[in-house]
Amino acid sequence: MGEVASEETRKQSLVFAVNGVKFELSESDIDPSTTLLEFLRSQTPFKSVKLGCGEGGCGACIVLLSKYDPVLDQVEDSTVSSCLTLLCGLNGCSITTAEGIGNSKDGFHPIQERFAGFHASQCGFCTPGMCVSVFSALVNAEKSKRSEPRPGFSKLTVTEAEKAIAGNLCRCTGYRPIADACKSFAADVDMEDLGYNSFWKKGESDEEKMSRLPAYDRNSSSPKFPEFLKMEIKAGADLAAKGYHWYSPTSIEKLQSILQKNETENETPMKIVVGNTGMGYYKELEHYDNYVDLKHIPELSIIVKDQTGIEIGAAVTISKAIEVLKQENVGGFPLESKTVFKKIADHMEKIASGFVRNSGSVGGNLMMAQRKQFPSDIATILLPVDAIVNIMIGQKFEKLTLEEFLGGPPLESRAILLSIKIPSRELTKDISSETDTKFLFETYRAAPRPLGNALPYLNAAFLAEVSLSRNSTGATLNTCRLSFGAYASKHPIRARNVEELLIGKVLSVGLLYEAIKLLETTVIPKDGISHAAYKSSLAVGFLFEFLSPLVNTPDQISDGLCNGDNSSMLKDYNSKIKENSDGLNGTKFQTLLSSSKQNIQSGHDYPPVGKPVTKVGATIQASGEAVFVDDIPAPQNCLYGAFIYSTEPLARIKSISFKPRSPPVGVTALISVKDIPGKNLGCTSIFGEDPLYADEFAQFAGDRIALVVADTQKNADLAANLAMIDYDKENLNPPILSVEEAVERGSFFQFPPFFDPEQVGDFSKGMAEADCQILSAEIKLGSQYHFYMETNTALAVPDEDSNMVVYSSTQIPEITQETIAQCLGLPANNIRVITRRLGGSFGGKFLKAASVATACAVAAYKLQRPVRTYVNRKADMIMAGGRHPMKITYTVGFKDSGKITALKLDVLVDAGAFPDASIVIPGTIVGSLKKYDWGALNFDIKICKTNLPNRTTMRAPGELQAAFIAETIIEHVASTLSVEVDTVRSINLHTYNSLQFFYKSAAGEPMEYTLPAIWDKLATSSSFYQRTEMIQDFNRSSKWRKRGISRVPVLQEVSLKTAPGKVSILRDGSIVVEVGGIDMGQGLWTKVKQVAAYGLGLIKRGGTEELLEKVRVIQSDTLSLIQGGITGGSTTSESSCEAVRLCCNILVERLTSLKEKLMEQMGTLEWETLILQAYQTSVNLSASTLFIPEPASMNYLNYGAAVSEVEVNLLTGETTILRSDIIYDCGQSLNPAVDLGQIEGAYVQGIGFFMFEEYPTNSNGLVTANGTWSYKVPTLDTIPKQFNVEILNSRHLQKHVLSSKASGEPPLLLAVSVHCATRAAIVEARKQLGFWNGWNGVDDSNSTAFQLEVPAIMPVVKERCGLDSVEKFLQWTMGTK
Ligand SMILES: Cc1cc2nc3c(=O)[nH]c(=O)nc-3n(C[C@H](O)[C@H](O)[C@H](O)COP(=O)(O)OP(=O)(O)OC[C@H]3O[C@@H](n4cnc5c(N)ncnc54)[C@H](O)[C@@H]3O)c2cc1C
Ligand code: FES
Ligand code: FES
Repeated sequence: MGEVASEETRKQSLVFAVNGVKFELSESDIDPSTTLLEFLRSQTPFKSVKLGCGEGGCGACIVLLSKYDPVLDQVEDSTVSSCLTLLCGLNGCSITTAEGIGNSKDGFHPIQERFAGFHASQCGFCTPGMCVSVFSALVNAEKSKRSEPRPGFSKLTVTEAEKAIAGNLCRCTGYRPIADACKSFAADVDMEDLGYNSFWKKGESDEEKMSRLPAYDRNSSSPKFPEFLKMEIKAGADLAAKGYHWYSPTSIEKLQSILQKNETENETPMKIVVGNTGMGYYKELEHYDNYVDLKHIPELSIIVKDQTGIEIGAAVTISKAIEVLKQENVGGFPLESKTVFKKIADHMEKIASGFVRNSGSVGGNLMMAQRKQFPSDIATILLPVDAIVNIMIGQKFEKLTLEEFLGGPPLESRAILLSIKIPSRELTKDISSETDTKFLFETYRAAPRPLGNALPYLNAAFLAEVSLSRNSTGATLNTCRLSFGAYASKHPIRARNVEELLIGKVLSVGLLYEAIKLLETTVIPKDGISHAAYKSSLAVGFLFEFLSPLVNTPDQISDGLCNGDNSSMLKDYNSKIKENSDGLNGTKFQTLLSSSKQNIQSGHDYPPVGKPVTKVGATIQASGEAVFVDDIPAPQNCLYGAFIYSTEPLARIKSISFKPRSPPVGVTALISVKDIPGKNLGCTSIFGEDPLYADEFAQFAGDRIALVVADTQKNADLAANLAMIDYDKENLNPPILSVEEAVERGSFFQFPPFFDPEQVGDFSKGMAEADCQILSAEIKLGSQYHFYMETNTALAVPDEDSNMVVYSSTQIPEITQETIAQCLGLPANNIRVITRRLGGSFGGKFLKAASVATACAVAAYKLQRPVRTYVNRKADMIMAGGRHPMKITYTVGFKDSGKITALKLDVLVDAGAFPDASIVIPGTIVGSLKKYDWGALNFDIKICKTNLPNRTTMRAPGELQAAFIAETIIEHVASTLSVEVDTVRSINLHTYNSLQFFYKSAAGEPMEYTLPAIWDKLATSSSFYQRTEMIQDFNRSSKWRKRGISRVPVLQEVSLKTAPGKVSILRDGSIVVEVGGIDMGQGLWTKVKQVAAYGLGLIKRGGTEELLEKVRVIQSDTLSLIQGGITGGSTTSESSCEAVRLCCNILVERLTSLKEKLMEQMGTLEWETLILQAYQTSVNLSASTLFIPEPASMNYLNYGAAVSEVEVNLLTGETTILRSDIIYDCGQSLNPAVDLGQIEGAYVQGIGFFMFEEYPTNSNGLVTANGTWSYKVPTLDTIPKQFNVEILNSRHLQKHVLSSKASGEPPLLLAVSVHCATRAAIVEARKQLGFWNGWNGVDDSNSTAFQLEVPAIMPVVKERCGLDSVEKFLQWTMGTK
């Protein structure tokens, strides 16, 4: 340790507690770059902290961090993301993980039990993080001074409960049940609003409901801060080990001397940290040896409120700053200051999510903006209020305006931001003058998620002092400050030219127009930035929103909010602005889910099948005790792998090296194609073969080239990032990077004709019957990433005699086993693949998971050591391939009535470089496309081979795209005929006859065709026609917000599969069930368990409930149960259930004679007695079977329909889903709670595809949306505000498994209703724009003939509504005056 360190620091150990357990780490144990997550997962038994993203964007890793303040004798509790929190900064802290809240040994917490009972956990990967978020909200609400809540409830409010989880991602549930579980604790909840659960029955009183909820005890729910830690509380631990230093200076002087020493001794780079959340964005590859933690320097943690303003220390967290800025009564500030502070605080609440704001500092944010051009919100909103920053460079202290600070060159590394001051301000009123004056301050941000956890496309803050002459008709801006940021400029700017133009003039429409034109030339994103024009138009929209209520015109430009009375105009300004942002002239809606209804009946014919039995393992998922592949403790000597992939689309691989040193820390081996003992296979199946590693050539950007193996996953990931690949492209053809190029070069996959779907009817005849035709219209669709919360992972452990045990997160263990065996050149019986549960999959762990498992197996085989790989989110996103993009050209003929007579499609599917499962795509496209009666359907589907990542299955592969194609054609026909689109849909729904014509035997019996009934029922239950009229009224009166509504049907064909099952009864009567199907969150095990209880229950009338508790479904093991097949296509649950039912039949038959004999002897018979006797009389109590579906009934159709209503903000392009109503036919649901979860979850995932999830690539085809920062799956604040689902659950379907139907995929297709409703709203916006244009002589009569891209993200929607709509409107206003 150096001189300064020995003088200034107290060498000590790091002491903290996890779930009350003391951890004391000596200096030599700690690498200061270790995150809390790494420590918890590798050094403790607490595996509930999951790694979902590693960048603060998902919430899977959240813990509760408690700090004790000895002076106040208070404990501060807040959530933080453990993936970004550095361990060394936690001296004296207490950490609570989900296991610490409650667990199977000490008892579950009511949060965990309610998550289970509200069916709020599917795969369970997000659940521990969700539970910690709610727990923290409860703990903090209970500390508040609010009045005592009703008995059994907490002090939490419904809004707080929802906000608590707004930053957590869940890919399975669709959030509604999670929100209900959280809201069940809120004092102000209406029990009626809480959704379907297994606690109470419909119609029970509130008191009864309350009594059935797992009791919440307010007194025993708080975490106890360990007493032993209170003794340990010191400012922070200075640590030094193995050449590392972690400094925790407690004064400015100590900090100066540390910095000085580092500079003079020219030590390795030093990292200054507060919350370390910046690592989420800037994933520095550099390894720092020295860290300085600023949290313990009093000057950096100050909060000073005095008459001159509020000074906030740079190390103060954003959450603390919000709290301080919201404290209205402290400081005695004038109203203007309070307005500023409150609005800044409100805006700050949209930065990241609570768990990032709780540790991220204000200073860290500003320093990132200053040094690295981070698109900061704080910098933009503090710019117009003349904020001052205090900085220190060496021994020098400086005060700068924020503008100087941001505009200067990046500060040198030793520069420290000390504090930020927001000056107080007061409006100067001239009492003698003939004017009223007003102070105005507003902030704005347009981001994909309204509540935060998304960087803005653009943010802005405007401050103005306005005076209104009492005898003239207009407002004059005396002061005006306009700042804009986050639009890919170097830093936020003040639009001074616009300010100068506006100041001192009476605001008129003309002046506003002039200002906006000038602004367009000022806010210009730098070259090459996506959505550049959109960003500029946002600036215009925000300025318009700010100033328009001040413009006094007879035309009432902001929707009639100005009433001509200037003084009241100013008085009402704030409410007008609020109305502007809440919805001009619109009904206000809440940001979060406001209500939901579930109309569901349980089945009673096959008990306990049909009951909403809670998901197997839900509580241990909630406590984090459920074991995922990466939670399996690492075997001794375990090594870790990370993939090195190509960044070039087609290139010869010459060599791989590492920068700067070779090999990087901890690296043991580099495994590539030359290390494969058998065949180079990443997966092999009936679908085709994909290689494991590129041989001589990389075929696409993202192609696996090698696996770098190191001593830890972190070192392996770092090494993979440091890999440099030497490419050679000489004499190579250019890569094929589009389907058009594939066509030009004749690059297609050829699959056996067996897989080709059949053409339907006579296309030429249909066209001849048509009154109108649309010829060769085009649609393009992009990809979608699965975004399972657990990325692909595997652990391979070599065993004796060349055997290998592989734990894999795969949907298809059988194929994984086969692939590994062939790759290693071993017989398949040497390879045991074990899969217990997946943290989501959605098709992404179909064939892709096999390659990860195989890569581990090859490395483990070569090195003869266990090898594990947990693919990091970025690599996973780059290699995943995702959903198939496609280009569709269609020709359609139709009658004047809208009845379609013929449809022809040419589809070019981008399959990427290898076949994967693309062979199924033509069949799935056509299967789903046939949902309408097209008269005749003709198609040519080409599977293009490109130099892009091979696409794979993704929930409803091809079917989702087909649903969109079908609706686009219907919309096109409707707009061509100028007929209501819903009429065209209704006319083209199948009759039973046309259904048979299109689907043949899959059509089933006439009574099974429920779609027409669903279609009508939904119109009534959703008040479709009344709301359509109300929307028309709304749209007539609202200029800047438009609404749309849409009703769409779903009809999807699925196919039952062969499935094995095995049921064994143990001596004590407990039952073990094995099935081929994998539980990925879809509730397969739960349904299987119910069927096992039902099936074995047949031996003994009644008693099935009791048997349910005795059944355990166990992990899939390819050497125990063979022919496991594929889990996918929505029907594996049914098939597995049927296999289990058949096994139970066998066992019941074997037991029946014994049972009858014993009954005769004993009168009554307990299950345990029967089984014991069966053991003693050697009855074979293990039965296995392979269910093979009848060919005639293996295919069947699923039906449903949805109505969605949306509202589009024309200034920002934001779409809010106001309401969705779904009716879905589940036959007789095996478990309505599970099926409801599938319906809601699938629907929300579909919303992601249609509205949010942009998955772009660079010009090489390398995926650029490679993390939570750029890939935006839906969050709680983006799902429908009202979400109503009805499950039809009534009929006997003879040929189905216990009369059930599938629910996993078809509901996903219904999300197209949101897209169609958005299009309808945009049509209204375009009609209005056409009207404004028409005045200018540019008539836009083409308002309905346009295509809305997928996903319809904000920039797309805004573009379709008119990027220049504000300008056009102002021109029109000026022209008509
Ligand atoms: C998931 C996520 C989403 C986010 N979304 C947004 C958003 O929408 N809008 C927005 O504005 N921000 C957003 N942020 C950024 C967030 O506000 C910052 O990461 C946070 O404020 C940084 O504070 P910190 O204490 O963690 O800084 P650290 O990570 O500890 O430090 C960040 C950088 O600043 C330096 N530094 C820190 N403090 C000082 C100081 N006092 N003097 C000199 N150098 C210093 C560090 O050396 C480092 O280089 C997001 C962050 C995350 C992780
Ligand atoms: S893993 Fe930490 S927030 Fe995603
Ligand atoms: S249950 Fe939330 S991600 Fe699976």
